[in-house]
Order: sequence, then C-alpha cells, then structure tokens
Amino acid sequence: MNNRALAVSDHWSAEQQSMIDDIVEGLSQPQKSLPSKYFYDEAGSRLFDEITELPEYYPTRTEATIMTSNAASIASALGEGVLLVEYGSGSSVKTRVLLDNLSNMAAYVPVDISGDYLLNVAADLRTSYPEINVLPVVADFTQPFDLPDRSSSESRIITYFPGSTIGNFTRDDARRILKQMTAVAGPGGGVLIGVDLLKGRQTLRAAYNDSAGVTAQFNLNMLRRFNCEIGTDFQLNRFRHEAIFNEEESRIEMHLYSLDGQSVCVDDQLFRFEPGESILTEYSHKYAPDSFARLAGEAGLKTRQVWTDANSLFSVQYLEPA
Ligand code: AVJ
Repeated sequence: MNNRALAVSDHWSAEQQSMIDDIVEGLSQPQKSLPSKYFYDEAGSRLFDEITELPEYYPTRTEATIMTSNAASIASALGEGVLLVEYGSGSSVKTRVLLDNLSNMAAYVPVDISGDYLLNVAADLRTSYPEINVLPVVADFTQPFDLPDRSSSESRIITYFPGSTIGNFTRDDARRILKQMTAVAGPGGGVLIGVDLLKGRQTLRAAYNDSAGVTAQFNLNMLRRFNCEIGTDFQLNRFRHEAIFNEEESRIEMHLYSLDGQSVCVDDQLFRFEPGESILTEYSHKYAPDSFARLAGEAGLKTRQVWTDANSLFSVQYLEPA
C-alpha cells in the first residue's frame, strides 16, 4: 500500500470501509451491482414506506389483508404456547396480528440487525403486550445465531419470515435460509413465511415502475447515500431507474442505467460506465406455488397450509419439517 492509500483508508470508520469494499466489489463485476441492504438509510426507509402505499405496489397491503382475514386459521395452524422467532423483524407491524391471536405464547423473539431500532421496538411491544415475553436478538439472520435461553425449552418453535424478503435472495441463498429456519424450528416446529406469487408481467412491472416515480427515487437514493457517506461522485441525473422482469429466472430486477458514458470515483478507484450500462441493485423473485413448494422441499420442508388473497397475488405459507 502506498502512502496516499494509507492516509485515505485511515480516516474511514469500519462501517464506511465495509461500504466502500462492497461498492468496489459490486462495481468490479461484469454485471455491475450494489447490495440492496444499502437502500435503507433514513431517507430510503421513508421512501420504502411510501412505496407500500402506492396503488401499483400490491405486496405489503395484500400480505396484511391475508394476515388479518385469516388470523384465526393461521393461529390454529401454529398452535398454542409457541416460541415465535421473527427474521428481520423491523417495526414488527405485521407481527401484531399474530401476537393478538396466538394463545399462551412462550416468547416472541424478534431478530434484526439494527440493534438500537430493535430494542426500541421491543420496548414498545412489551408495553402493548405485557403478558408476552419479548426477547430481542441482535443478529444477521442470514448467518447462524443463538436463541436466547428460554425457560420452557419444550415449547414449539415457529420461525416467521414475512414481507416476501425471501424473494430478495437467489434460489441458492433462499434454500440455505430455509434450511436454517428449519433447523431453528426443529422437528416439532414450523415455518411461517410470506411469499410473493408469480403473476402477469404487466402487474409486476407496474409494481416496481410506479407512475409517481417513488421507486425510482428509492433506487437512486442509494447513490445519493454513497455520495453523502463515503464521498462517491455519482451524478444522479445521469442514471435512470428501471425494473425489468426476467422471465427465465422468474424475478424482478431493479437496475440503474447509465444515460451516457461516464466515470465514477469510489474512494481512490475510478469505475467506467458505457452508455446504457446498468447497475443491478435488487432481485425480487416471484414464485408459483409449486415452485416454492419444490424449493422448500429441498430445504427439508413440507407445505402444510397456504393462505392467499382473492386475486392470488401473494401468499402466506405454513410449512413443517418433512
Ligand atoms: C421489501 C424487499 C420485499 O422486493 O418488493 C420494493 C423491496 N424494492 N420496491 C420487494 C422493494 C422495490 C421489497 N422488499
């Protein structure tokens, strides 16, 4: 390392340095990419909340409707006295339907990577549900983590993964996460998961290319964030958002297309963009029910019950170790 590189890398925090490393790695690939986890700074989280209110963006409201319309049936499939472990709990809004309807819960274990936020949400939940034992775990759920010591070690464990976040992973990674959820649940437990369903490409494309342009702002916000946090020089008006539907892979792909030939500086490296070249920022896989059942089967799970909406847009599925 030369002196200048040393001096430069010296002033970054560990988080900034790992952000730089992620960007450099992503932009060095033949298909340039940036990790979707960087969407969610404060502005990005606010934009995502706005997305969930858009007329074209059906997943969030449809999942919520499925949960409330089938609360009793879902609670009875999960059973009594369960230990509920939620993956990527965030604000735990969707979970309230379960907390309202499950009887004699052993505990609720929200797992999230944002520690401060998680502990605040846990405190609010304890106020709303004084009878429920809330045991937050600060962890990256894509990696193995330990459950908190629990008094009733014989309780049934249900792992819960809402929001169709499973769709953001490649099939290989999704299979790995499902396997891990199966292992956490154990032989007597189960898995409850929100899965967005395959449907006509018009509906899918509209959901990720909304007419108000909020998803475009959400996508471009990642570049703005990098400019603010680690001093990259992305020119936001020289990139254009478009989400495409990849039929072969059955997934929405969010892209940022370079409008012209340009270079972008990341720390001390320059990245060249050809006109029309794209940065892939997110996958959102869409599953036909049988194709999700097959993937879950490969992870050692058997589908027990599937709840859906009147238009079969979204599904909430309950599975058990086979
Ligand atoms: C919250 C990750 C499930 O994939 O639909 C929404 C994120 N991206 N619009 C999704 C998202 C663009 C969303 N997930």
